Amino acid sequence: MVCLGNICRSPLAEGILRSKLPYDSYVIDSAGTSSYHIGSNPDRRSIAVAKKYGINISNLMGRQFTVKDFDDFDIIYAMDTSNYRDILHLARHDEDKNKVKLILNEVYPNQNYDVPDPYHGGEQGFENVYKMLDEACSNIAEHLE
Ligand code: 4NP
Repeated sequence: MVCLGNICRSPLAEGILRSKLPYDSYVIDSAGTSSYHIGSNPDRRSIAVAKKYGINISNLMGRQFTVKDFDDFDIIYAMDTSNYRDILHLARHDEDKNKVKLILNEVYPNQNYDVPDPYHGGEQGFENVYKMLDEACSNIAEHLE
């Protein structure tokens, strides 16, 4: 799960997807394309909305996406088209490129919708992002199992 800062959207996506799959059956992680928040816990508003729905993401820690992630993961979900492009810039070959998907295409195939960046908005933005990611992660989990 990859966004820009790895403190708002992608830690939520990581926690939500983990909650929908059998314990320890998949390696699920998140990262940011930027280095802004390396080592930071998720934004308190993401922690709060996750907690509201019974998911604890308070211990996650921000890290930056690296080329090694292409080797370590089978599927890489970008939260928005900007993240998608930034990840593709790091791809070494088609095998890397083919791993990268826009997460909302799991709900709205081929529409290339963005999960909006909630960082500069209010709590409602986080609720909205939660609902989008919950729907996307339900579809992802259904197809994986
Ligand atoms: P995220 O949100 O990409 O969903 O983690 C952001 C968090 C921080 C910043 C931008 C987006 N920032 O510019 O610091």
